Amino acid sequence: MKYSLILLAAGQGKRMNAGINKIFIELHHKTILAHTLLTFEQDKSCEKVVIVGHPDELETIQKMVKAERSQKVFAVISGGEERQDSVKRGLAHIDEEEIVFIHDAARPFIKQKQIHGLLDGVRKTGAAILAVPVKDTIKMVHNHLVNKTMDRSELMAVQTPQAFHAKLIKKAHLEAERSGKLGTDDASLVEWIGEEVEVVEGDYLNIKITTKEDLLFAEAILKIESGSS
Ligand code: CTP
Ligand code: MG
Repeated sequence: MKYSLILLAAGQGKRMNAGINKIFIELHHKTILAHTLLTFEQDKSCEKVVIVGHPDELETIQKMVKAERSQKVFAVISGGEERQDSVKRGLAHIDEEEIVFIHDAARPFIKQKQIHGLLDGVRKTGAAILAVPVKDTIKMVHNHLVNKTMDRSELMAVQTPQAFHAKLIKKAHLEAERSGKLGTDDASLVEWIGEEVEVVEGDYLNIKITTKEDLLFAEAILKIESGSS
């Protein structure tokens, strides 16, 4: 089964506070964005990639695509204000009958096992996500007071990629836009229109690089992967 990829890179990385968009931070001499792209470049099921970048950074991204000799990137386009806007712009380049993966460029450690799991999952329901059980106890807190302790056995932390029949996710995005609904992930829009979402086992190493300390974890993961630890 083949799929197309929307690779999201149009954020600003504010929580990283690095003075540049975090996806351009280098790990082992390659940007986080390049690491992520190369994983999909090497995946045979991935047919084409749309990179959604910040309007001011499209040229930099184009240069990287050239330097890495990517065979799959067929468009580098401008993202929007919110992640959801960036996804919507990416979806405009995907045909209805395709399978589409939506992935954060800030998650460079995605593995074949999870990609294959998502392909199996999306075959079943038309929407599949990666999730791992949460390790911490999660509490709802209001004004510094505990409101409720959640039942941890039911809680999962969700990752990207998320995989969809393009027709379904396009419909979900359109209806969300009409109603002014903003979801924190793409699957939540599919849930919101009443469709099922298959949950596939994620990997704790598939971290999203968000804050400074995540760079330490990222370096450690790369060390393990390159066998130099
Ligand atoms: N993203 C995007 N368009 C946006 C916002 C985010 O394409 N308008 C992308 C980011 O580049 C990132 C992914 O979505 O790869 C996940 O978002 P997040 O981790 O929140 O990244 P940023 O928004 O860049 O970081 P921050 O929220 O700290 O500013
Ligand atoms: Mg953000």
